[in-house]
Amino acid sequence: MTKADNTYHQAPTEILGAPVGCPVHHEWNPLGEDYLADPYPIAAKLRDDHPVFYAEEVGYVVVTKMEDIETVFTNPDTYASTNVQDPLYPLDDQAVEVLTAPDFNPSAVMSNRPEPDHARIRVYTRQGFSKRRLRTLEDYMKERANLFVDQMLAGGTSTEYVKALAFPLPAEIVFRFIGFPKADDEMIKSWCVERKAFSWGKPTAEEQVSIAENMLTYWRYCREFTAGRRDNRQDDFASELLDAHDANPEDLSYIEVESIIYGLSFAGHDPVTNLLCNTLLCLLPRRDQWDALCADPSLITNAVEETLRFESSQIAWRRVTTTDTTLGGVDLPAGTRIFLNFASANREPSHFDDPNSFDIHRPEASRHISFGKGIHYCLGANLAKMEARIALEVLVERIPSLRLAPDQELTQFPNITFRGPEALWLEWDEQP
Ligand code: HEM
Repeated sequence: MTKADNTYHQAPTEILGAPVGCPVHHEWNPLGEDYLADPYPIAAKLRDDHPVFYAEEVGYVVVTKMEDIETVFTNPDTYASTNVQDPLYPLDDQAVEVLTAPDFNPSAVMSNRPEPDHARIRVYTRQGFSKRRLRTLEDYMKERANLFVDQMLAGGTSTEYVKALAFPLPAEIVFRFIGFPKADDEMIKSWCVERKAFSWGKPTAEEQVSIAENMLTYWRYCREFTAGRRDNRQDDFASELLDAHDANPEDLSYIEVESIIYGLSFAGHDPVTNLLCNTLLCLLPRRDQWDALCADPSLITNAVEETLRFESSQIAWRRVTTTDTTLGGVDLPAGTRIFLNFASANREPSHFDDPNSFDIHRPEASRHISFGKGIHYCLGANLAKMEARIALEVLVERIPSLRLAPDQELTQFPNITFRGPEALWLEWDEQP
């Protein structure tokens, strides 16, 4: 059931019922406090009870096993990605009204665009993420990471890491990559944060209106920015896309360029902020593993993979069936909304030895599903891993005494997909 008009976000009008014969779970709520606090034991039990089941709370069929999730990702004709940016629940009328402004018309271009258009557009975006371009960003990343650490050290022997580094670093990287001017950073960041609630949470009617208004403002900003770049090209991704559009306007339309910019600015920083926090949450309490990285930073690459498996910054993603099909022995009619549960698959015992242990030496760490698989495989995976590696390299070198502040209560922003602490307090010894 693909969207005829390629609308970027399309709210569901109703919660769907269970497919006939599908096991039903009446209580599990992916936005529930217990699940947000620690999804893993609950996800494992769900998987053991019924690998494929219907969750009444959200109206989605949940897929919990790695093998079934890979089947979904690698069969895009049967399982479309058109719903991945849609709100989880129906929206309030007032929010819908804001989004029906005639100039709010971003188009589905990447994660939520079906074939053959997705493949056509991905040719242009893939070029922007080439190894050559990523290498050019590496020095800038190191310089910025060091600067944030200078500021942390100048402020004493403790800091709140999200504010100090994990939020600003990935945001700046992706904004410079796109070409947004530095002066606009704070404004753009504030618009992006709320997108998480809109598409993957359960905002109140009042919150929906304010988020919708900000999304509209942000879309208008992206359009103005693109128009500015049209007349004044620079060495950035937006200019590359505009060059590609000029060379081949039939193949990459102008509104597709605007929409790629709109989508990338969110995709490109929020999950990385979470990844930067999650690496420290996994490593710092396991002192032997942190000390091993301080002694041998070449271990960092696999430590980042293991964090993506063990405490991923993305623990779910979505699809919708385009035709009647059967998955894990359960019949699914066309139009079934699918919830892919990475939290269970990334810790599946048949896939990973001793899956509930965090081990930076794990040989199969990179077999996680946190970046998806197949034609929509995360475009920014290498960039995200590079940012996490560089942040850790700088921290192990400059603050080996880093540790989690004791007695802090970690909270998660209530949403079904993105996972990372809203605040993370760190401490370290006085520097000599
Ligand atoms: C830890 C960080 C990140 C995680 C866990 C993550 C995860 C994902 C996942 C699960 C998908 C969907 C894959 C699928 O449907 O098969 C995806 C797609 C995508 N990601 Fe990421 N992502 C991260 C960082 C980034 C960054 C830094 C960027 C860009 C700067 C980015 C850009 C994209 C884009 C454009 C897509 C859509 C690709 C397509 O449909 O062809 N992501 N990502």
